Amino acid sequence: MSGTIPALGVIAGSGASTLLPDMGKRDRLDIDTPYGLPSAPLIRTRYHGMDVYVLNRHGLDHVIPPHRINYRANIWSLTEMGCQTVIAIATVGGIRADLERGDLLLPDQIIDYTWGRDATFFDGVDSGGLGHLETADPYCLELREVILQAANSVGVSLHDGGVYAATQGPRFETAAEVNRIERDGGDVVGMTGMPEAVLASEQRICYACINLIVNPAAGRSEQNITMDEIRQSWAIGCQHLRELLDESIRLISQMSPPQFALNSQVMEI
Ligand code: HPA
Repeated sequence: MSGTIPALGVIAGSGASTLLPDMGKRDRLDIDTPYGLPSAPLIRTRYHGMDVYVLNRHGLDHVIPPHRINYRANIWSLTEMGCQTVIAIATVGGIRADLERGDLLLPDQIIDYTWGRDATFFDGVDSGGLGHLETADPYCLELREVILQAANSVGVSLHDGGVYAATQGPRFETAAEVNRIERDGGDVVGMTGMPEAVLASEQRICYACINLIVNPAAGRSEQNITMDEIRQSWAIGCQHLRELLDESIRLISQMSPPQFALNSQVMEI
């Protein structure tokens, strides 16, 4: 753990390292964890006077699909570095009618449709212990407020709230699955939001995730989803994402200490 000031983690997909402009000196840290290797070495930099650790969720060369990501190792590695706050970035398909490609959304709820992923650190008495995480509010409420404030102060449009539906991937959904997710209350759909969010909470990290809408969800547009469309939408939203991330980190760095109250309890047995 470096220093006594809580550090901040940023978890993102491809292009993670380009999200923080002018990062200056970067160290590359290879970290092993009891759960194996994280997706990539952590990139450490000083940003707005804070230690910031950037983790590329899919590996440096985008080689790890969503269902194969070692979410526990990723979160553990950031915990090891003293990250008490994590801002995640994840691309999603838009379901809600008002969402367009390139829009940013800050979800406040999650529905988890994933399966077979190592989704807890509380894996039994011989493995991490026993505990039940309370997840009524799966994202850090105070961190969400700071990100909303940041959006406001830099004039970046950010949809406040929405239900993130986490699907297993790596395939995209069928149109019927998207209809079902909408009936369930889902607003956006992505493949990596879980178990990342709850693992962070289990490690007592304040975690929030900014979603970039890169395509209309399956069956919601005339065309099929293409990687070209996703890449173009990323390019559209990326500048706003950078500004939002930069201002969020600046606001956090001005807090003394830069730390948030946890809104989820772990009930020990
Ligand atoms: N579905 C699931 N994950 C995604 C999508 C989608 O439409 N777009 C980007 N990530």
